[in-house]
Amino acid sequence: MNSAKPLLGPVRQSSKLRNVLYEIRGPVADRAAALEREGTEILKLNIGNPQPFGFTAPPSIVERMARTLDVSHGYSDSHGLPEAVEAVISRYAAVPDFPELDRDRVFLGNGVSELITMTCQALVDTGDEILVPAPDYPLWTAMVTLAGGNAVHYRCDESDNWNPDLADMEARITDRTTAIVVINPNNPTGAVYPPHLLRGIADIARRHSLTLLVDEIYDVITYDGVTHTPLATVAPDLLTLSYSGLSKSSRLAGYRAGWLVVTGPTDHAEDFLHGLNLMASTRLCANVPGQQAVVAALGGAASREDADLSIGGLTAPGGRLCRSRDVVASSLNAMNGVSCVTPRGALYAFPRLDPEVHQIRNDEQLVMDLLEREHILLVHGTGFNWPTPDHLRIVLLPEEKVLGTAMERMGNFLASYRQ
Ligand SMILES: Cc1ncc(COP(=O)(O)O)c(C=O)c1O
Repeated sequence: MNSAKPLLGPVRQSSKLRNVLYEIRGPVADRAAALEREGTEILKLNIGNPQPFGFTAPPSIVERMARTLDVSHGYSDSHGLPEAVEAVISRYAAVPDFPELDRDRVFLGNGVSELITMTCQALVDTGDEILVPAPDYPLWTAMVTLAGGNAVHYRCDESDNWNPDLADMEARITDRTTAIVVINPNNPTGAVYPPHLLRGIADIARRHSLTLLVDEIYDVITYDGVTHTPLATVAPDLLTLSYSGLSKSSRLAGYRAGWLVVTGPTDHAEDFLHGLNLMASTRLCANVPGQQAVVAALGGAASREDADLSIGGLTAPGGRLCRSRDVVASSLNAMNGVSCVTPRGALYAFPRLDPEVHQIRNDEQLVMDLLEREHILLVHGTGFNWPTPDHLRIVLLPEEKVLGTAMERMGNFLASYRQ
């Protein structure tokens, strides 16, 4: 009898993943993890995860999750627990001009990430074109691609506070375009779009009969007294899907709690909405303890104080996040050949390395070299679908002092770095 083991054929990833990228947890992050296993301490400024930087979970939220654990072990309705759906409806009812929400237009999800995936699977047909910002939060491009669509990137203009270039956006529309993705406040640029610009985006969507997909996960994280305007408030006549959640606003990324609300006319979109319901049903429901967190975070006066007001304290002048933002923006702008549009929202800075001063051909190599030499982990700009290798993204979550030292080390590194 031949005892040789049969040769195992190669097991390959699906070809659908060929152009799907998520560099935030890509090869440079893998190398950082290997260095950590060898005992090297790495300052991880690559991912917007508040907990490792000492942000604690709001007690009233944890308390409700703990108290309801013994009744949270069953599936919920695929839209969500009725009380979580109600909590989301009340949240938006308190936002001036936000269109009224209907229960079956609300979906709880395992973070906004899952809701983005569900939406793309339900909406995007092979060859459909979806307008996505450049730079973007790369999950959008990845999920449009995985769904068989083409992410067509519209330019955000660094010289105009990173606002979307509306002429560029409109010029990219073809007869295959079906939707526009808007990320506001923006990751990675920190831009918060003014109302007139949002009205301009709505006008484009109106003219070309496009659906709006609006990622507003940073909606309560703004600096300098800037107020966030939800796009749905200026587009009540358009099919608009708005996304938010607890990962950032309540610093609860690990609870995987997010929501999606659908506003505007839906008669023309019943088929898509059936598809969205189908996608929600196939994953049965969002994790129920996470939905309990949504109830606690969005309901009741005391819990709202924990969740939302304290974010206001962190972002107000003198607040922890505001001080971190200040030290990063000012340190970057003081470096030779580096400039940074001051972030007005979210948790990131996206500085530019002037190509006249820093001749970077490969920005992924740059962040790998920074990791090896300074043990600081960033994400390169092309990882956010930015077309040229001249930007980096820096997370603003550490304390001011830690970030100040990191910026000093980064500045010294860049001063002598050649490719
Ligand atoms: C713009 C944007 N959208 C969505 C997400 C994913 O959020 P969640 O933790 O709710 O899945 C993130 C996370 O960083 C983000 O920056």
